[in-house]
Amino acid sequence: MTENKKISHWEERYRDQDVESMPWYNPHLDHDLVATLAKMKLTGGNFLDLGAGPGTQAIALARRGFKVTAVDISPTAVEKAKQRAGREGVSVDFRQDDIIKTKLNSGYDYIFDRGCFHVLAPENRADYVMAIRKLLRKGGFLFLKTFSYKQEGKEDPYRFHPSDIRKFFGPWLKVVSIKESYFESTLESNPKALFCVLENSKL
Ligand SMILES: C[S@@+](CC[C@H](N)C(=O)[O-])C[C@H]1O[C@@H](n2cnc3c(N)ncnc32)[C@H](O)[C@@H]1O
Repeated sequence: MTENKKISHWEERYRDQDVESMPWYNPHLDHDLVATLAKMKLTGGNFLDLGAGPGTQAIALARRGFKVTAVDISPTAVEKAKQRAGREGVSVDFRQDDIIKTKLNSGYDYIFDRGCFHVLAPENRADYVMAIRKLLRKGGFLFLKTFSYKQEGKEDPYRFHPSDIRKFFGPWLKVVSIKESYFESTLESNPKALFCVLENSKL
């Protein structure tokens, strides 16, 4: 996809549709992230919500006490998410940004990607991994949720096997865990997912 097409695809989607009817809309914090935050006893620090879309995940993280920056490639998604946070009285730094040529500064303790990596064109994956490496502080964690190879069908987004995650991220980040899971969604049947924890512990 060309640069402009990439933005316009998402922009049209967020302009034409209420976020509540989008398949990935989840008013609650992702259940795998909830369990992982509890297990790792994480209650504070800087979180980046990457490809934040409706903003529900960023808002839920801010409510839990994290300092949250949330970015999306679509300006309309960012605007709608800002309005949601305003209505709910929650402070989140929402910004338009393309992760592939990010303008963000580094130093995040945690990054949450619920459904962004798996929509990127394959040729952008290496740049994505480099951006994560740049943005995470040393010892920081990426919590990555993607479609699983176990999900039926061939339509978007891309599906991944745990070996794909190891192949793309393994040389650069420590793969702490990869779990078979599912996306809570507005669809009749929840898509099968991988939930991955990766640590920026390599040089
Ligand atoms: C499947 S949606 C998930 C939205 C949100 N994470 C959630 O769970 O509700 C994927 C999101 O990634 C955003 N996105 C796609 N490409 C991106 C890029 N290159 N940089 C930043 N965001 C991107 C889209 O606009 C969309 O909002």
